[in-house]
This record gives sequence, structure tokens and C-alpha cells, in this order.
Amino acid sequence: MLCFDLIAEWRSFRLTNPGDASWGFVPTMGALHKGHLSLVKRSIQENDKTVVSIFLNPTQFNDPKDLSGYPQTLQNDITMLEEAGVDVLLLPGFVQLYPDNYRYKLIESDFSQKLCGTSRPGHFDGVLTVVMKLLNIVDAQQAYFGEKDYQQYLLIRDMAATFFIPTQIIPCPTIRERDGLAFSSRNIRLTPTERALAPRFYEILSQNIPVEACRTELMSRGFKLDYVEELDDRRFGAVYLGKVRLIDNVPI
Ligand code: PAJ
Repeated sequence: MLCFDLIAEWRSFRLTNPGDASWGFVPTMGALHKGHLSLVKRSIQENDKTVVSIFLNPTQFNDPKDLSGYPQTLQNDITMLEEAGVDVLLLPGFVQLYPDNYRYKLIESDFSQKLCGTSRPGHFDGVLTVVMKLLNIVDAQQAYFGEKDYQQYLLIRDMAATFFIPTQIIPCPTIRERDGLAFSSRNIRLTPTERALAPRFYEILSQNIPVEACRTELMSRGFKLDYVEELDDRRFGAVYLGKVRLIDNVPI
């Protein structure tokens, strides 16, 4: 696996290796788990070459404590990606990706203000800005995103269409633990008691009951609600268990 931390070096490598290879891209923030790996495997299946990026993007964290507590497991991540057969790993630093120190940003003014956008102001500005940069840098034919972050996927899909980005944005199903909890880098921050309760989130969200009943049941089980809302054919939820914020969504 080739690793690049300098964007210019990656770009010259990419330009000298065009061939007819198709490139797949999986952007991540590291602390990799089976959810990330499913995207990587899909990209490897569908493309000649796969690029993964690991960049803990500070501009998408509205809460500094969430950023400082975000797990970082770089050595383990590298081993996982190497074993999976990834061709290129991009590890850019902040100055590499934000030479403008985030003076320029990409803002969506409607859907990004809803659901997670309500309690995390500026979050999707940071996500869209960094994903736009990465899509331009990598210049892949296909990029893979998890349905676990469904709102993020929709915003990125529409951003790519809006700005005529040639990369196809591919949604991939949410990967779950056996007990139903969606894999998330933040799960390791749950205490054993919180971890035992966490699968009820998905279970209750999936129940065929009105959304108001779903909210009441989550609260009675000890979850602190951020939101549970239905939009189009999907029910979206975000809850707190102690200090950890969990998100999930199910089709209805
Ligand atoms: P991160 O949380 O590291 O997730 C990277 C990708 O993995 C995202 O597309 C996310 O939806 C997907 N993913 C996470 N958990 C998953 C699961 N259980 N099943 C399937 N896919 C899963 O999302 C981000 O990073 C960042 O916002 C990023 C897009 C990299 C921009 O900084």
C-alpha cells in the first residue's frame, strides 16, 4: 500500500498512472471498523484501484470535546487497510487540506440545517467542504459512503451533482453488530452499561409504531433524545447515551 501525506505527491503519482484503471475512493476519519471495511471491500470489488483517506476533519466538529475524544488508531487502521488490499492511503494534515485555513467553505442552506444540522451547527459545512476537496484531489470514478450517515450521503450526492463532480457517489448499507448496533468509531467510548443499552436504539427506531411513541419509548429506556424524525421514506434518529451521541436511520 502506498501512503501519501503530501497532496502534490499524490497528484503527480495519479497523473503519471492514469492508464485505463478505474479508481474507487473511500474517505474516512480513521478509527476503522467493519462498517468502513465494507465500503473498502466494495470499492476493491468494483474498481481496479482503491484509495482510502484518513483525515480527522476538525471543521466538522462543532464540539471541541467530541474532537479531542475522537478515537485515533492509526497503526491498526493501516494494518486493516493493507490486509484488505487497498492500493493507496492518503494521510493529509490540516495545512495540506486547508491552505486557506478554512476561509473558503461550501454551504448547503436547506437540508443541512435539519436533523443533525439543528444540534450541530456548521457540521455539514465542514463535511461538504472537506469531501469536495477530497473528491477533487482523488479524481476517482466512484466514491463510497455509508447509509449509516444517511443525511450526509444525501448531501454529498446532491453536492456532487450540483457542482458537476464527475465521481459517482455510491451508497452502501449500514453494517451492524450482531445485536443490531451500527458500527461506529464512537462506540468504544460507551461504558459497559451504555453499550448494553445501545442496541435498543436501533430496535426501537425500527418498530412499526408512530414516531411520537418511538420518542417516548426511547426516553423511557434512558436515552436522551436529540431528535427522531421522519423524512420521505426514512426514520432518522440521534440520541445521547452519557457523553456519546449515536445516530441511526431505518427505511419505513
Ligand atoms: P467516518 O465517520 O470515518 O465514516 C467514513 C465512512 O464510513 C462514511 O461514509 C460513513 O457513513 C461510513 N460508515 C461509518 N459507519 C458505518 C457502518 N456502520 N456501516 C456502513 N458504513 C459506515 O463520515 C465521515 O467519516 C466523515 O464525515 C467524512 C465523510 C470522511 C468527511 O470527513
